[in-house]
Amino acid sequence: MTSRPILPPELISRERIAARVSELAQTIGGDYADAEDGILLIGVLKGAFIFLADLARALPLPNAVDFLALSSYGANGAARGAVRIVLDLRASIRGRHVLIVEDIVDTGHTLAYVRKMLAVRQPASLRTCALVIKPARRELEVPVEYVGFEIPDVWVVGYGLDHSDQYRTLPYIGALPADP
Ligand code: IMP
Ligand code: MG
Repeated sequence: MTSRPILPPELISRERIAARVSELAQTIGGDYADAEDGILLIGVLKGAFIFLADLARALPLPNAVDFLALSSYGANGAARGAVRIVLDLRASIRGRHVLIVEDIVDTGHTLAYVRKMLAVRQPASLRTCALVIKPARRELEVPVEYVGFEIPDVWVVGYGLDHSDQYRTLPYIGALPADP
């Protein structure tokens, strides 16, 4: 029997996160320099709230924010990959330049669902920025135009990411040891 450590070992330091967030903001700023009304950041709750807060403030572009919340059904059960909306956007995205802001893209099912549901609402453009991706776990090909970090197949927490709603406010990204 083991118990979880109170502070998970660091995988990505707060300094590396901060540096990468400003790089991403500069890149995105350049790519959307011609977007007259700026861009609409759509944060996927809950995991993206800290990343989105930092990214939005670093963006050298006018931006507005809105949020979505989803719940996914059992990771290993028959409904694997099924996703449901629990909180929808406040406003129409028609004609807006939309950037989905995700904490992590793992299998890709969540992001594929979000992209599909937003695409039918006729945004002017639709791209995704994910703080972390786990390429080894990807099951669906879904574009992620802006990636913070690629990580191996480990469970990460901190900077918004959780394990059973814990660890979200850790200032760095830590890796939890695998269950015994
Ligand atoms: P998907 O498999 O790409 O659909 O990812 C679904 C969701 O699982 C993500 O949006 C996260 O909320 C969660 N998730 C996947 N891997 C991790 C992890 O390592 N830490 C925390 N949450 C994760
Ligand atoms: Mg998520």
